[in-house]
Parts: sequence; structure tokens; C-alpha cells
Amino acid sequence: MAIHLLRLSDFTGDELFAYIDRAIVLKQEAAASIRHTQLAGKTIALIFEKASTRTRVSFEAAMYGLGGQVIFLSAKETQLARSEPLKDTALVMSRYVDGLVVRTFGQEVVTELARNATIPVINALTDLYHPCQVLSDVMTVIEKKGQLKDLKVVWVGDGNNMANSWVQAAARMGFELVLACPQGYEPQADILQEAQQEAGGRITVVRDPVAAVQGADVINTDVWASMGQESEEQKRLQVFQGFQVDGELLSHAKPDCIVLHCLPAHRGEEISEEVLEGPQCVAIDQAGNKLHIHKAILEKHIV
Ligand code: CP
Ligand code: NVA
Repeated sequence: MAIHLLRLSDFTGDELFAYIDRAIVLKQEAAASIRHTQLAGKTIALIFEKASTRTRVSFEAAMYGLGGQVIFLSAKETQLARSEPLKDTALVMSRYVDGLVVRTFGQEVVTELARNATIPVINALTDLYHPCQVLSDVMTVIEKKGQLKDLKVVWVGDGNNMANSWVQAAARMGFELVLACPQGYEPQADILQEAQQEAGGRITVVRDPVAAVQGADVINTDVWASMGQESEEQKRLQVFQGFQVDGELLSHAKPDCIVLHCLPAHRGEEISEEVLEGPQCVAIDQAGNKLHIHKAILEKHIV
């Protein structure tokens, strides 16, 4: 039976930590120039309906790094763009390749592909979640801070796909998560509610970013308008005034607070240039860890 990776809440905390533990080992082995061949003879297809730099290249490099092969498909060049049903696509792709890594708009697209495929489907970002990214983010936090459970993690800005996956990570992996979001821009209500029930008071949503970051070990942000929300950009620029992660906001956190951004960043909007380029920001290490997390994911799911 194929094991899909569509959202973090489909896994236990132990399973999520296992990806990170394995990625840390794979990272050490890569640094020691140890070669891997465990996916030799396997092929995955990437089907991307949205732009990507990091996720595409790190999944491709991860697959090659484990001895496997990759076929990249821009969704608009496939028959999906001419309305071929997802079911037929899933059934046919299952005859050709050993896994699908998909970046698309609706979560229902990856769910429908997974329902019909006999091969694993991995979510490489939807409007609702970005699970693989958040695994590499949490890995980065563990590397930098040495632990997770006693940390205060603060999300500042839009309650978007990244925030939804962080909410699920906090519930399953057991750390404090405070989200400072403008009214109407919180994480999706049902996702939040379910995670809050599980987390017993350790996941909260507040309005004031300054109050939120008091005592923070980690501050995390992302763009104010995600891919697909281009028409809302101007409105969102207004709504998110006061939510920029800048030097002033950072001064209210712990002195050794680290700043995360999944990238790409909009300098001068959700994060100031000074903070993004500053010593507390770990965005490039975070991006680097995507390679190792994706290896760990592929190794587990592509069989
Ligand atoms: N963080 C991230 O997913 O980047 P890309 O859009 O470049 O893949
Ligand atoms: N929230 C952003 C993340 C990009 C990696 C988006 O969906 O565009």
C-alpha cells in the first residue's frame, strides 16, 4: 500500500521526528561524501502547477542523490491543462513511475490523485499546506536550538499554507506556537481547532505581533500574498501593516531568537532587509535542509 504525504496530521509525532532524525544522518553522510544508491532503478515524476525554485531542485537533487531518476512536468504542458481527469492521470502515472511529487492549488487535487494512484503522492505545496517545507524548518530549529519541546515559536503574518502546516506540526510534535495574524487571516478554522484540541493550550492566535514575540525563541514569517492570491496583493499590503518582522519587532524576542522564512521573501514587506540579511535569520540553512528532508521523505515513501 502506497503511503502518501499530503499533510502532517496524517502522521504521529514520532513519525515526523523520524524524518528529521534520518535527514540529519543523511546530511552528515552527504558532508562525508558518502554515496547512496537505495533508490537506484526508481523513478519519480514531479507535476508542478505553480512556480518553484527550492522545492523542485531539492526534490530532484534528493532523488538523484539516492540513485533514482526524475521526470519533471509543468502541469500546463500536460493533458491536465486540457481537463483530463485526475483519476486517469493517477492511474496512468502509476504504471510509469514509483511516486508523484505534486505542487498545485487545491488540496483536493493531491487527495484525488492519492485516492486513485497505486504509488505514493507527496504534497510539494498546495493552497492549504506545505508539509515538506515545515519538516525542513523544524529540522533547522532543532539543529540551531538543540531541542524543540521547550521552545516558544511565533508565526507573524498570514495564516496561510505554511501556517496551517506549522499548526499541525506544533500539535503533533509538541511545542508552543503563537500566531499573530490580522483578523480574517488566521489559519483555517477547522485545522486550527483540531490542533488546539490536541495541543491543550499550547497553540494560540493573537492580534498583536509585539506581544506575541515576547520571550520568543523562533520567529517565523512568510509572504503576505501567496501564489494564486496575486489579485489581493494591494489589499493585503494594507491589511498586514504592522506585521513586518523588522529589527524593532525582533528586539522584543529573546536575544538569541532565530528568524525563519521559507523563501522566496519580499524584502520590505513581511520581513525587513536588515532582518533577512542579519545574523539571526536562518533562511538559507532552512532552504539547504530541504535537500536532506526530501531525501528522508523519498527514502521512506518510494519503495
Ligand atoms: N520554500 C519553497 O517552497 O520555495 P520554492 O517555491 O522556490 O519551491
Ligand atoms: N505561502 C507561499 C509559500 C511559498 C513557498 C505560497 O504559497 O506562495
